[in-house]
Amino acid sequence: MTPEDFAALLAPEGRALLDSLRAYDPAQELAVATRLRREHPAALVSAALGQARLRQRAVAKFGAEDAYRMYFTPGGGEMATRASVASYRAGRLAALGVRSVADLCCGIGGDALALARLGIRVLAVDRDPLTVAVARANTEALGLADLIEVREADVTEVDTSAYDAVFIDPARRGGRGRVFDPEGYSPPLSWAVRTALTARYAAIKIAPGIPHEAVPKEAEAEWISDTGDVKEAVLWFGTAPGTVRATLLPGPRALETADPLPDPEAGPVGRYLYEPDGAVIRAHLVAEVAEQLDGRLIDPTIAYVTADELRATPYATAYEITDVLPFGLKKLKALLRERGVGILTVKKRGSAIEPEELRRKVKPQGPNSATVFLTRVAGAPSMLIGSPAPEPSPAPSPAPSPEPAAEPAAAPSPEPGTTAP
Ligand SMILES: C[S@@+](CC[C@H](N)C(=O)[O-])C[C@H]1O[C@@H](n2cnc3c(N)ncnc32)[C@H](O)[C@@H]1O
Repeated sequence: MTPEDFAALLAPEGRALLDSLRAYDPAQELAVATRLRREHPAALVSAALGQARLRQRAVAKFGAEDAYRMYFTPGGGEMATRASVASYRAGRLAALGVRSVADLCCGIGGDALALARLGIRVLAVDRDPLTVAVARANTEALGLADLIEVREADVTEVDTSAYDAVFIDPARRGGRGRVFDPEGYSPPLSWAVRTALTARYAAIKIAPGIPHEAVPKEAEAEWISDTGDVKEAVLWFGTAPGTVRATLLPGPRALETADPLPDPEAGPVGRYLYEPDGAVIRAHLVAEVAEQLDGRLIDPTIAYVTADELRATPYATAYEITDVLPFGLKKLKALLRERGVGILTVKKRGSAIEPEELRRKVKPQGPNSATVFLTRVAGAPSMLIGSPAPEPSPAPSPAPSPEPAAEPAAAPSPEPGTTAP
């Protein structure tokens, strides 16, 4: 799509065409295109179909209400921050008292829109002309044009001194795919950090895989997950240097420390296995979660925590373990058959086996479900079998009550070798 094609899409004929494609089925593209070309120019039809597909894909990030009003470029939609994360981050900036932000590398405007929705004034800068046109159209489509100035420029040439905060989201994809070296970002991370250090507050979005050694000492590092998937890391400047934080959305629930605990001890597998959220693992806060759970690791190198008691935590998912076995496909197949397990969830950490491959080999059959963890226990390749633990019963209320205090409901007792539900 060229900027000219995009301009045609914004004209009344283009808008009407695009609106008519909201429910269109991409599998029928050829037939739809042939029909539409009888009444509209071919270039407009192809731009509208492309945009309709991008909107459909963007629903997962932006929700249907916004996605069907917004515009995207193929790369811009993929690189944009999802709305849940952008509005959380905008909320943190607003809570710091920030009223104006220079959004450097604004893309199609995912972050700028979230900031403006909180009443923050934004200068949104990108150097790609089509991306700028799309970002501008988005500010209008969502009624936020009064708060967002979209500027086509190289961010390295923009004066940001008039803004309370700087937000930088460098491009991490080049012509040959994802860029892993932060100096290969556009602009490079070192430029972003230098710029951040000149601002009162700054945030730089980076890949969650950034090594902790690469975090500048002036920064707070935050890893963010949304419904269990790690989405990004952010380097914050002007907040709490040296702090690491794991933030889980929705919520948010945040675990943070400036003084990380040493690695937890490893020990025998207990009745419960806890799978820490990815943000906790990336932030290296597994020890903090293990301490909350009074737990230990199953292996010094594996981020699974085990404990004998079930405790509620937002930072990990608990499983009740029924069997711990040395790794072996035959044994697993026999056990699953005996228990009638047809729905098998495979989780792995520290094992090279692919879940699909395992499922193909053990051919689960039956009405029951179970979870198998392929991992290492004290260095040995192992299989842990279990199922999601029930919600732990709430702790008894400390408030005095005229009624005799109710006994907290006992957790169901383990039946060795019980069938996974
Ligand atoms: C990861 S995307 C930004 C996504 C955006 N935060 C969002 O949520 O929609 C990075 C953007 O940086 C832009 N970019 C890269 N280098 C730039 C530079 N030196 N000056 C201006 N823009 C740049 C690219 O054109 C791209 O649109």
